[in-house]
Amino acid sequence: MIYNIQHNLVNESGVKDVDFNDIPLGRTFSDHMFICDYENGEWVNPRIVPLELIPTHPAAMALHYGQAIFEGMKATMDDEGTPMLFRPDKNAERLNVSANRMGMPEFPEDLFTEALKQFVLVEKDWIPPMEGSALYLRPFMYADEPFIGMRAATSYRFMVIGSPAGPMFRRPIKLYAETKYIRAADGGTGEAKAAGNYAAAIRPTEIAKEKGFDQVLWLDARDYKYIQEVGTMNIFFIIRGKVFTPSLDGSILSGITRMSVIELLKHKGFEIVERRITIDEIIEAHKEGTLEEAFGTGTAVGVALIEQIGYKNMIIDFPESSPVGQMVLEELDAIRSGRKKDILNWMIKVENELA
Ligand code: COI
Repeated sequence: MIYNIQHNLVNESGVKDVDFNDIPLGRTFSDHMFICDYENGEWVNPRIVPLELIPTHPAAMALHYGQAIFEGMKATMDDEGTPMLFRPDKNAERLNVSANRMGMPEFPEDLFTEALKQFVLVEKDWIPPMEGSALYLRPFMYADEPFIGMRAATSYRFMVIGSPAGPMFRRPIKLYAETKYIRAADGGTGEAKAAGNYAAAIRPTEIAKEKGFDQVLWLDARDYKYIQEVGTMNIFFIIRGKVFTPSLDGSILSGITRMSVIELLKHKGFEIVERRITIDEIIEAHKEGTLEEAFGTGTAVGVALIEQIGYKNMIIDFPESSPVGQMVLEELDAIRSGRKKDILNWMIKVENELA
């Protein structure tokens, strides 16, 4: 379908005041936002307009009942200055998995991709050129119907905003395996990228930080035994040269970086084991000396090397070098910057279709 996305653009971009060498994620926002409204069962009025406050009724249902979902994506630029998106079709699909779980309307996947392409072309100057940096894109959908009561809303907004960002972690990180709080239980919303999942993780993350860790390592809700995922990432372990990652079980976010890292490692000839993994196995491998590496993967973090996991009164330290994690980090960055051939066909070049 052809969509007519209206453009009302700023006269002067704010990008000239931005120092791309100092851009922590989510502090600086690009000039525009994409908006599309859901009214009377239809998505209408797709538009790119200057970023500004959005009028919200105090009874907007997202504020009370949490019908709010989001995605994370990155736009990068190749050496010729052509913007690129990383597997936008996968984000479009996942947004709708989240929408279905949260009783929200699906957003047309072709409109999602078109909106992202046009947004990226409009915000091209906001893409930092340095490898490892990107224009982080945040598509999101929320219920904006004013209503008090427990049912699916009838009006929603889908929006996209952008924030230029450098690498989230420039050093290996420490995880705290949580044995009191949980992130997701069977039948819950763990697989959805729902705002509420992140809300519930905020206090446990603060506690982990007070203890000197960077993020929480979530264990399953019933036995506190099976490893699920990390605060903003999926997790991988290297044991005796094999790559292990928890299998998707409905409680784990199906990370697009996770999927891509699995594809990349398989392509490189690694054996990948996707199955339930217990924290006890990790402790055992550590004791035997066969636990070689761990790293996390996510859109915002990219690849984060893990140096330590704290569990109960135990500390699991990882060897200083993480050759597999480091290789994956470098390959992903190089493919995203167009420096390395996109052998797995992940990158979508956004040519100047706006002209
Ligand atoms: C992402 O990695 O894109 C996320 O959505 C995590 C976010 C909390 C920074």
